[in-house]
Amino acid sequence: MALLKLENLHVALEDGTEIVKGVDLEVDVNEVHAIMGPNGSGKSTLAYALMGHPAYVITEGRIWLDSEDVTELAADERAQRGLFLAFQYPHAIPGVTVTSFLRSAINAVRKARNGGADDPIAIPEFRKTLLAQMDRLKVSRELASRYLNDGFSGGEKKRVEILQMAMLKPRMAVLDETDSGLDIDALRVVAGGVKELVGPEMGALVITHYQRILDYITPDHVHVFVDGKIVESGGAELAKKLEKGGYAPYEPEEVPA
Ligand SMILES: Nc1ncnc2c1ncn2[C@@H]1O[C@H](COP(=O)(O)OP(=O)(O)O)[C@@H](O)[C@H]1O
Ligand SMILES: [Mg+2]
Repeated sequence: MALLKLENLHVALEDGTEIVKGVDLEVDVNEVHAIMGPNGSGKSTLAYALMGHPAYVITEGRIWLDSEDVTELAADERAQRGLFLAFQYPHAIPGVTVTSFLRSAINAVRKARNGGADDPIAIPEFRKTLLAQMDRLKVSRELASRYLNDGFSGGEKKRVEILQMAMLKPRMAVLDETDSGLDIDALRVVAGGVKELVGPEMGALVITHYQRILDYITPDHVHVFVDGKIVESGGAELAKKLEKGGYAPYEPEEVPA
């Protein structure tokens, strides 16, 4: 079975409105898949449901990660199993520094992988890895001691998310609309981070409205997502076609009143 498998996934809001209407998708290690769709098509809803956000209810279908059914698992349990989501709108956590946040996140994963017993990373090892990754991803050292996302620019938030991904080494990275509002330099860092990490240990799902980030990460598979469903799948050339033709050919024609 592929690393991540979605089987007829349906997702509704808490008021019962169905947003994701039956998605089948398999993403394996070594693969980058892109989901591209217009605003409001349900892309972020799909991402939140994958992560186990309680406001997004899976009404039908299953999510498999590493051959384990994680559909009923809570967000932290999915994270411990190696699912990672880079949010479209990362939240600030005042009072928690980037460094302490990263250390807690790593230790939570280590604890879960150690059968529930504490197995904290040694501070010198943590420091060494953190500094190396920060240099590699061009995250300024000054950011490490600041409160997470508090007053960060869009580019800084994204760099710190990629830093988090590099430190946590997830199995499956889901990046929701990571290109919006990023300058080219930040986009390169994000794309470079994803490209370096995708391999025999990791796969990635890049969710985006724009084709821009795909100029820096060439996806192996592209899926067009309209009105809660995948309506077409293809290779990287499909993203180019979307850049030219937009989503209009896939959307239902407006019926005049
Ligand atoms: N928490 C929420 N509360 C109310 N409506 C929501 C919520 N999340 C998503 N929606 C609605 O679901 C639809 C899909 O939104 P979203 O998943 O954000 O789409 P996309 O990411 O493709 O732009 C929209 O109509 C949006 O208003
Ligand atoms: Mg979105």
